[in-house]
Amino acid sequence: MSYPGRKVVGVGRSRSMYVCRSCATPSPNWVGRCGSCGEWNTLEEVAVAPRSASSRTSAPGASVTARPIESVSADDGVPVPLGIDELDGVLGGGLVPGSVTLLGGEPGIGKSTLLLQAVAAAARAGRRVLYVSAEESASQVRSRAQRLGALEPELWLVADTDLGRVLDQYDEVEPDLVVVDSIQTVHLPDHGSAPGSVTQVRECAHRLVGEAKRRAISTVLVGHVTKEGALAGPRVLEHLVDTVLSFEGERHHALRLLRAVKHRFGSTGEVGVFEMRDRGLVGVPDASRLLLADRRPDIAGSVVLPAVEGHRALLVELQALVATSHLPSPRRSGQGIDSGRLSLLLAVLDQRIGVGVGGLDVYTLAVGGVKVIEPAADLALALAIISSLANRPIPADTVICGEIGLGGEVRSVGQLERRLGEAERMGFRRAIVPLSAPVRVGSLRCARVPHVGDAVRLLRLADDTEPPSADLRAVQ
Ligand code: TYD
Ligand code: MG
Repeated sequence: MSYPGRKVVGVGRSRSMYVCRSCATPSPNWVGRCGSCGEWNTLEEVAVAPRSASSRTSAPGASVTARPIESVSADDGVPVPLGIDELDGVLGGGLVPGSVTLLGGEPGIGKSTLLLQAVAAAARAGRRVLYVSAEESASQVRSRAQRLGALEPELWLVADTDLGRVLDQYDEVEPDLVVVDSIQTVHLPDHGSAPGSVTQVRECAHRLVGEAKRRAISTVLVGHVTKEGALAGPRVLEHLVDTVLSFEGERHHALRLLRAVKHRFGSTGEVGVFEMRDRGLVGVPDASRLLLADRRPDIAGSVVLPAVEGHRALLVELQALVATSHLPSPRRSGQGIDSGRLSLLLAVLDQRIGVGVGGLDVYTLAVGGVKVIEPAADLALALAIISSLANRPIPADTVICGEIGLGGEVRSVGQLERRLGEAERMGFRRAIVPLSAPVRVGSLRCARVPHVGDAVRLLRLADDTEPPSADLRAVQ
């Protein structure tokens, strides 16, 4: 039955819809701005396969059998290490044969460098690797490999953007491990759309996933994350792959963090830390030392925060500078700091303890190109701002962490013991922390503060002379 004036859509007819290149959210109509991620001009038309009357039934002859769950083998596959500790750690031991991993990150962050080093290590250990370069010529990859000490007999290279031709090489090379650099630059010519479009990226990934599973090849796909959304971003592929890794850092800083965003074969809590050097990426097992190397503790506005990334504690220096503004609306800037959180903290400081910065510029940053977005950084950031405003430095041997509520109260944070353990290991003597913290962690003494105002008094950052409470005096 049909109604007059209504189109019958569906059976046997090919339809189209729109998908955001940046966040993969579908939309039935084209709109200028994605309703989900808010990016402009990222919606792209994709064809939807016609719904045929028979599509719900399987092809003749193909049959699957449902089984009781207890009779299904639990063999997830054993990860094979690549030989780069910081990378293997994030992967929970290495790459599982037949698994597909997506490595996402901004252009220039070091994805190709990391993977070339990783596959060279795997080739050195006797695994056969095929490195597919769809961005750089074979000679460019070779010269980089030479610089990285990655020339290995078992490392095979093909520089081509036609994925059909690349897949033909699988029979020749019989690889155990394949890297496709990048998924946005390979294409299947039969699928008319342009390389990098949502349709091409998905189709190519489908083919690569199919081959990976069929031949038990561990496959790593490189995916660029572009702010402009000009290419289909890795989010378009997240559901297709087993593991999604994100490689992050500031291009102008040497430090890089690798984390698992999705991992079908293990936890997503491990974080790998690398430093970009002249001869490639070097794992940094002791990242706190690197991050604090250039610290000048006598400067007002500098605070050390015991942060956590996944399961790893890192000591990060936060800096604030409060300066006279010459602008009608003063600047509030946060590099590596959540700007919404910064505004919230400034409002709390103004309303709850009367420390106003109206008419002043406030610059804040997390040193070393690290991003600190956890609320556990609130107290450290607030005290860095007040320290700069008062022009009084915070003692060099003190770390600070705690979340601040809208009332100015200091709230507890996760993984306190891990944070404080790292501070103690690095030789810090005092910590200013929420009430839930222990009194002592080894030789580190904790001042437990109920309110941000108490921390200000404890550090003598304010002009008022009201003495701190007994609990606070004990650790001065
Ligand atoms: P690259 O791996 O090409 O980044 P991506 O594949 O993510 O686009 O790395 C690019 C940057 O890394 C480039 O700016 C130069 C720098 N680099 C080094 O500093 N040292 C090195 O040994 C290499 C190979 C690159
Ligand atoms: Mg690259």
